[in-house]
Amino acid sequence: MGKVERNQSESTMNLQMRWTLLILLFLHNTDISWADNFIVVSPSKPVVTYVGEDVVLPASLSPALNAKTFEVRWFTTDIMTPELLYVNYNIRLQSDTRRTLSIDNLKNGNVSLIIRNVRVSDDDLYRCNVYSGQREEETQVSLTVEVLGAQPSISMSSTDGQKTQLDCSTEKWNPQPEVSWRDMNGADVTSQSTIKSEQDSEGLLRVSSVLPVKEEYNVFSCLMRSKAPKPDWHSGLGIYSTSLIVWH
Ligand SMILES: *[C@@H]1O[C@H](CO)[C@@H](O)[C@H](O)[C@H]1NC(C)=O
Repeated sequence: MGKVERNQSESTMNLQMRWTLLILLFLHNTDISWADNFIVVSPSKPVVTYVGEDVVLPASLSPALNAKTFEVRWFTTDIMTPELLYVNYNIRLQSDTRRTLSIDNLKNGNVSLIIRNVRVSDDDLYRCNVYSGQREEETQVSLTVEVLGAQPSISMSSTDGQKTQLDCSTEKWNPQPEVSWRDMNGADVTSQSTIKSEQDSEGLLRVSSVLPVKEEYNVFSCLMRSKAPKPDWHSGLGIYSTSLIVWH
């Protein structure tokens, strides 16, 4: 009898140990997936830069996990043709050598894309996809390549139906500038105008705003100014002097 009881309590102990082991394993696993839980964060506002500059499209892991063992993929339209692919501790693909990332900064969860010597054609919405082996997360950063174009000039034209209109046009802008019209009394008449723009061969915009005019004597001014948000921008910068036309 004594022997059987001992055997029974031994097997109960074995069972308990096995449960403990299972629970430990379970906790260990949960621990791993907690550690692997991250998101990719980036600024919600577009990054604004100028042609010829070097720019950083900021993106980082939160929490700041070491991303050296992760896969980092920057792309614009197609995830399968990335602008940059970091995998197996190396940059494996670059659509252009001007695009790179700092492998050293990956250990702090910094997966930012660096674009050197920016061109107008770099103006795009970039997506950053990070894969840890267990989890895949994505963010996006918009890049605006600002080009301040030529001063606008106004010309007058009239169609056969005797409708007269003023045409305020300019070229070599990116993105499209904000246009406003004022009359002689300083009243804002922009809502009566229409705007159209087209891309030239360099990818820059030719912009033209048309204002139909009714009154016989008036003075109109047309103002074009950059609308790209740039926090450190001096308030006057980018505003071209107004063009005036006196119409008799
Ligand atoms: C992230 O890396 C970029 C590119 O190397 C660097 O310019 C930026 O300062 C880094 N950001 C932080 C928060 O360290």
